[in-house]
Parts: sequence; structure tokens; C-alpha cells
Amino acid sequence: MAIAGIVAGGSGSRMGSAKPKQFIELCGRPVIIHTVGAFLKNPLIDHVIIGINPEWYDYTKELLQNYGMTQVKLTKGGSDRNETLLNIIRCAKEELSCADDEIILTHDAVRPFVSEKMISDSIEALQKYRIVTAAIPATDTIIISADGEEASDFPVRSTVYQVQTPQSFRLGDFTGVLSQASRQERQTVTDACKLFHLRGYAVGLVEGDRRNIKITYPSDMTIAQAICETEEKQ
Ligand code: CTP
Repeated sequence: MAIAGIVAGGSGSRMGSAKPKQFIELCGRPVIIHTVGAFLKNPLIDHVIIGINPEWYDYTKELLQNYGMTQVKLTKGGSDRNETLLNIIRCAKEELSCADDEIILTHDAVRPFVSEKMISDSIEALQKYRIVTAAIPATDTIIISADGEEASDFPVRSTVYQVQTPQSFRLGDFTGVLSQASRQERQTVTDACKLFHLRGYAVGLVEGDRRNIKITYPSDMTIAQAICETEEKQ
């Protein structure tokens, strides 16, 4: 069984919109509806679970009903991304009787352009790795600066990647890794890959896509709208 765990517990403060960014419309439908739809239509995915900011739980429930997506399970998000993920995993175990070795593809609600290929590649790569993430080669040169004033390191660009989602693993592996993390790590290490890496797991990469953007700032909506219009014409 493969589950899609959509993390939608954030408030989107950088977007500065009246509603959290996952509810802003793109080509006439809320961002989260695009994201959920991409997983629902994929035959490799058996269930979709959303972790939503509790304040927006009823609103999301109604939205899913309006779009005929009542098979999607909803659970409350947590105060940080890891807690939202943990709630999704709890929901999978309690409501769908999932075992520890079931696969979960975790995905940001605000990345509406996840492709079929990323989903199938992620599931396949889990035969080799315990955790895999979508990633794309960095196009800008990346520099490291601890204080924001002075550059301290210059990684070789050809070795630098930008991490996207889906990030995929087995349910029990995530709870195991998180239970070994300190309280501070749980709150600050929001990337599941890093949590696994810190516990000695090899992190596998699958090819992401430049269109798989994370909507973060208002300017991202302009780009997302253009991608959406292009995709709808195809
Ligand atoms: N997320 C979550 N639970 C949280 C915080 C974030 O499920 N407590 C989710 C967001 O809803 C989003 C993804 O994690 O789909 C990536 O988060 P990001 O966009 O970086 O965070 P937001 O809180 O949504 O935005 P901001 O940082 O601008 O406030």
C-alpha cells in the first residue's frame, strides 16, 4: 500500500495573504485541490491523508466535499512540520490500519505540480533506499554563510541540489527516527531527509522537476499561474 501524506498545517506567513496560501486559487481551483488531485488520480496511490492547520479543518472538509474528494482523510496539523507528519502517520495507523512497513509519500500542499513520474520513481527508489527525496540540480551558485555577512564556504555547484518533495519512506522508519531526535531537532530540522541522515541512513535522490515549485512568496503565484495555464492547454 502507498499513502500520500499532504502536509498543509502551515499558515503561509511569507505569502501574507488573507487565507493560507494552500487555499489561494490557481486556474480557478485552490492550490491544495490541485495537489490532492495529482495523487488521487495516480493508480499507485491507495489513500491520501491531509494534515491541516486546525483552524482550517472545517473549511478544508467542506472544500473536499465541494470537489467530490470525500475519500481523502483529514487530520489536524501540528505546531511544526514534523508534528504534522506524525499526526498523518498516526491517522494512517489508526484509521487505515496501516502497518509500520507501509510506504508514505510526504508532499507539501503548496507544490501543486507534482508529476506522475516523481510519484512512480519515488516508490521504485524505496526498493533500494529507506528514504528518498525529489531534488533538482541547483542552477545558482550556492554559498554558505553562517552570519549572513560573510561567505564561509563555496560548495562545487555540480554537487549541489535543491530539495523538493515528495519525500518518501516507511511509516515506522519516520516514527523511529523522530523518537531518537532531541526536542530541539524535532522543531528545527524540518526536513525529514536531514533527520534520517543524522541517524545514519543513506538518502536516495529521485529526479524532481523545475515546475514542482513550492509556493512561498506572492511572486511564486505568478509563476504557478503561468505553469498551470500551460499545463491546462496540453
Ligand atoms: N507545514 C505543516 N505544518 C506546519 C508548518 C508547515 O504541515 N506546522 C507545511 C505547509 O503547510 C507547507 C509545507 O509544510 O505545505 C512547507 O511549509 P512552508 O511553506 O515552508 O511553511 P508555511 O508555514 O506554510 O509558510 P511560512 O513559513 O511562510 O509561514
